[in-house]
Amino acid sequence: MAQNSNESKIPQHVAIIMDGNGRWAQQRGLDRPEGHIAGVESVRRVVKAAVNRGVRYLTLYTFSTENWGRPAEEVNAIMELFCRSVIAEAPELKEQGVEVKLMGDRVAFSDKVNSYIDKIEGETAGGTNLTLVLAMNYSSRYEITDTVRQLVAQAAEGKLSPEQIDADYISAHLYSRNYPDPDLVIRTGGEYRLSNFLMWQAAYSELYFTPTLWPDFDKTSFDEALEAYAQRNRRFGLVK
Ligand code: FPP
Repeated sequence: MAQNSNESKIPQHVAIIMDGNGRWAQQRGLDRPEGHIAGVESVRRVVKAAVNRGVRYLTLYTFSTENWGRPAEEVNAIMELFCRSVIAEAPELKEQGVEVKLMGDRVAFSDKVNSYIDKIEGETAGGTNLTLVLAMNYSSRYEITDTVRQLVAQAAEGKLSPEQIDADYISAHLYSRNYPDPDLVIRTGGEYRLSNFLMWQAAYSELYFTPTLWPDFDKTSFDEALEAYAQRNRRFGLVK
């Protein structure tokens, strides 16, 4: 795809389910965490490609609420990798004008992980080219449940009435409230499901599935996904 060949067809917001790290490692006789380490390289490549293509928001499904159920050593390896990546990547992210934001419930993270979250958010604050949203300890059902609970509590205090609640109101209170809905959701690794990712926000997103494992997903793979998106006819439930 020629660079920005059709500006209007560049998705404003791309969200990615980065699947296949474990299989990538196993295929090479490596431990699963090695796949996550290779996955960080893909994150770096795709962030750069997103900036170059003019994508404004990139949301990555980095750690789901369900991922806590994985073996402790894998969970710890992912958390450690996150902390190391913050140190290693912060300068280049800043240089590229990338602002990093966490989306998810931070209560479950260790003090150490929370301090690295503060660090990367603080150091990249104000980046204007791309907002990189890392969904960590995130799942849609958790997000929606938490939001409903907060709204019900407000209603119980008499601060909210049923008539005030519509779809826009709910969108404005989800964890994703500061970001537009994704235009394109990519899932790598060959599975055809959303796995509890942005289920409310992806109501009208274009979905793109590829068998490519996340560590093998490169700039060309990203361009292929953008090209497929550019061919789609979005109708949002209307007629053309
Ligand atoms: C899914 O592959 C991937 C994850 C659960 C973790 C993603 C984490 C990273 C890419 C590293 C940390 C990221 C940042 C931004 C620093 P899987 O393990 O489910 O693969 P499988 O389906 O082959 O088992």
